[in-house]
Amino acid sequence: MLAPGDFQHGPLRAAEFFSFSTSPPLLRAHRRANISRVTVPAAAVDLSVNVGALRLSNPILAASGTFGYGVEFAHLVDLNRMGGFVVKGLSLEPMAGAPAPRLCETSSGMLNAVGLQNVGVRAFVAEKLPALRQYRTAVMANVFGYTVDEYVGVIRILEDAEGLAGYELNISCPNTAHGGLQFGSDPRMVAEVVSAARKVARRPLWVKLSPNVTDIGAIARAAEETGADALTVANTYQAMSIDIQTRKSRLGRITGGLSGPAIKPITLRLVYEAARAVKIPIVGLGGIEKAEDVLEYLIAGASAVQVGTANFSQPAACVNILAEVEKLCKTNNINSINSLIRSFQADSP
Ligand SMILES: Cc1cc2nc3c(=O)[nH]c(=O)nc-3n(C[C@H](O)[C@H](O)[C@H](O)COP(=O)(O)O)c2cc1C
Repeated sequence: MLAPGDFQHGPLRAAEFFSFSTSPPLLRAHRRANISRVTVPAAAVDLSVNVGALRLSNPILAASGTFGYGVEFAHLVDLNRMGGFVVKGLSLEPMAGAPAPRLCETSSGMLNAVGLQNVGVRAFVAEKLPALRQYRTAVMANVFGYTVDEYVGVIRILEDAEGLAGYELNISCPNTAHGGLQFGSDPRMVAEVVSAARKVARRPLWVKLSPNVTDIGAIARAAEETGADALTVANTYQAMSIDIQTRKSRLGRITGGLSGPAIKPITLRLVYEAARAVKIPIVGLGGIEKAEDVLEYLIAGASAVQVGTANFSQPAACVNILAEVEKLCKTNNINSINSLIRSFQADSP
């Protein structure tokens, strides 16, 4: 998926990458709720969550584009311990992607311009999916296209295959029928692509929103009204980085998507806004690297979360963070992760 030269500055340095970590006051909402201080016995934390009709053994999934097709990680992490993972975005035909370099580091984040490289939906079904069927984890297929018909075409092919838990529509894609405007930037285009996908998708349909919008609530409602079962909030932020010596971009495609800890507070606000705008569940992601981040997203309104960039420095990030979440719940006498979801207290600190 990634090519030599993808990293402009060499491998990510974890210490620097995570240097903006903070320790926010823990579980303020729960303290306020006056939760009793009785010690919860070991392994008593119920980590399972529902995202609509889909039940997950725990709320942490790996994000699309940061976990390959899942199979590549099987020797590095026990896939059965993950709540699930979302495979790299799938298109109707294979795509070669963008020129290198495709990745570069930024302060507390990462820029990528991979160009949606993928093997194509038919090769995914024939070569990747059979190996995934042996795992007891939710495998979500991330789907994209440059026209509504392409989205529909990918889903039709996946509908005939076994072993998927659902679909995640990536709508941060240029719509070639509308002058290259992103599907996700306009409620009418969102409605068009989601209703077309809904007609052919029998499995749960998650719609992954673009954060590059002025009114996330309007976009969220358009997706909900036209048949989304859940919303994934959100994708990367359009951004760039310049090498002052060469005066050129650090990315082959000039601009790219910003991810990692730098975006967490911005996306957390989007999750909060989206959760207020719709009734369907939200899956939150952006900059999650530790247990406290997961809890923040759940309190803000997410029913589950995804981990993206952290997988690059720590391939077992999802299960490591899950272990921390369980510990954190135990020390705070939280016996069900569900009690955190949408538990935000609106009165000021
Ligand atoms: C290298 C890379 C490739 C990505 N590819 C996809 C993709 O194919 N489809 C998609 O919906 N999101 C893709 N994303 C976005 C991530 O799934 C996620 O939304 C974003 O990185 C924010 O989460 P994070 O801060 O935890 O990384 C990609 C992100 C990165 C860093």
